[in-house]
Amino acid sequence: MSEPTLQSFRDLAALRGCVAAWRAAGERIVLIPTMGALHDGHLALVAEARRIGRRTVASIFVNPTQFGPNEDFSRYPRDLETDLALLAQAGADAAWTPGMETMYPPGFATRIEVAGLTEGLCGPFRPGHFAGVATVVTKLLNQVRPDVALFGEKDFQQLRVIQQAVADLDLAVEIRGVPTVREPDGLALSSRNRYLSAEERAVAPKLQAVLAEIAAASRNGTPVAGRIAAGRAALEAAGFRVQYLAVCDARTLAAVERVDGPARVIAAAFLGRTRLIDNLAV
Ligand code: PAJ
Repeated sequence: MSEPTLQSFRDLAALRGCVAAWRAAGERIVLIPTMGALHDGHLALVAEARRIGRRTVASIFVNPTQFGPNEDFSRYPRDLETDLALLAQAGADAAWTPGMETMYPPGFATRIEVAGLTEGLCGPFRPGHFAGVATVVTKLLNQVRPDVALFGEKDFQQLRVIQQAVADLDLAVEIRGVPTVREPDGLALSSRNRYLSAEERAVAPKLQAVLAEIAAASRNGTPVAGRIAAGRAALEAAGFRVQYLAVCDARTLAAVERVDGPARVIAAAFLGRTRLIDNLAV
């Protein structure tokens, strides 16, 4: 077996040269945007990328514009060496690790705002977050110009916002969602799980369990309000501070009172200082 080789780029012209050669050879290119601190959820995206394309590029950039002033930008875990080793092991072809001077040079002045989809769920609790995400992802898509870009369903609202931006701006890329990777006890993998204390980590799977109960009870047009109230109470009793818990139309993300089409049950809650989000298909 040949050794896996990962090329790592910090210079945009060099990245573009490499990707242009692949494109000239007719190779299908798949991009996985990340903020690093890679775990098996990210690596599942790499595995999916390798199934659907010839060349896999993972970007690593902790994007300051999607963090609020009181959020964890400065303490967000950063370990480039480990991340590059994980990407090499997973069989990625390239890592794109731009610096701040490439992403936001002095005088940078543009922002992509997606209306509608960003107004509910995480939107009100994280003002400016989705504009930061849409702007950085648009840049990454233009830098790499992949045929396909993969995003986790774990961040379901983010996935829908990016699909909307890409459609509205006629970006020539296909955005695909990948199912959430979970710990054996159901907790969705997240770079932020490492902030949890042992006690919080023991309680954390309850979030997924409550979502699963609501999803099961919401099928067949049953009204969801009572289930949601009970789920919220169960989470608060377990020590969560719930920001939102809702059943939403999977396309518009508007809250629904009964399920009569594709829907997601979706939540954000703090355990101590750590904010967890999760969602399940109904
Ligand atoms: P990050 O949180 O690093 O996540 C990178 C990608 O991995 C996202 O598409 C996310 O949905 C996916 N992911 C995270 N945990 C997952 C899990 N347990 N199962 C499956 N996929 C999972 O999301 C971001 O970075 C940023 O907002 C970004 C899109 C890179 C823009 O800065």
